[in-house]
Amino acid sequence: SIPVILDVDTGLDDACALLLAARHPDLDLRAVTCVAGNADVDQVVRNTLLVLAAAGRHDVAVARGASRPLLEPARAARHVHGEDGLGDLDHAALGLPAATGEVDQRHAVELLRDELLAAASSGERITLVPLAPLTNIALLLRTYPEVAKGLRRIVFMGGAAAVGNATAAAEFNIWHDPEAAAVVLDAARELEIPVTMYGLDVFYDVRVSRDEAVELLAVAAPATRLAGALVQAQCVKFGTPSATIGDAGAVCAVVDPAGLTTSPLAVHVELAGARTRGQTVVDRREWVGDLDHDPHGIPPTVVDVALAVDGDRWRRLWL
Ligand code: BDR
Ligand code: CA
Repeated sequence: SIPVILDVDTGLDDACALLLAARHPDLDLRAVTCVAGNADVDQVVRNTLLVLAAAGRHDVAVARGASRPLLEPARAARHVHGEDGLGDLDHAALGLPAATGEVDQRHAVELLRDELLAAASSGERITLVPLAPLTNIALLLRTYPEVAKGLRRIVFMGGAAAVGNATAAAEFNIWHDPEAAAVVLDAARELEIPVTMYGLDVFYDVRVSRDEAVELLAVAAPATRLAGALVQAQCVKFGTPSATIGDAGAVCAVVDPAGLTTSPLAVHVELAGARTRGQTVVDRREWVGDLDHDPHGIPPTVVDVALAVDGDRWRRLWL
């Protein structure tokens, strides 16, 4: 099975991703690290423990990470994910088990370091799947660059080759901490870590219907009921007949890469633009001329950018 670590800001769709990573037989979920994003970091930790408890995975280490972006204040996405970051679900009505799991005493960066170096010394390589602002991962790669030898690749949810969601130009995870995203891409280039960008060009294309959610809600297993409730909450909130599994698509990309079409493209994170801060500028030109000069002298990083997905294939995978 494939060893993975998720970095999350749980979040309705992070929860969809955690359930898949926790229960899929081809994945070996080694740890989960938490960061401020959809909700404040303590709420993210609570939500993560709740989801892992529903999945029966009290054995997975969960660590608290950065409580704010590198430069700007945290800006929770309550308008999307609710007051508690997880759709304000009625846990008792759903019959979810109590989140009794303990939080690891280490900071997220220390847990990541320990897991990656332990993997490296036993000849393994872990796939890191960040589904949130990249604050923890930026701190990790700058503090302990030696972890690269324990990394197979990074598959992150974030960015877009076309339009944004937090702003017209920027996707939420990158918009929330653009400096961190720029650091991660820069470090990945320097340390030669392969990166896949699972961004908005595919994010909304793996969808589960309201009717399927109702079927999930009728199943006895708490993980399945929670999965149904996560989809249903989004359908109700947005008044749509189906909802995206969102971040869970990045986990599908690890389990079943054949469902995804990617292209190796140069990517820059825009830090300065008045209306474009946090945009991932994806260079899709066939020819790049001498005029293309970055004023900060930072070379772009070539990333496998997700451009199309087989939504039906991954809907079935997730279900
Ligand atoms: C991303 O932002 C968050 O709201 C979601 O959890 C996802 O990671 C989508 O832009
Ligand atoms: Ca997320």
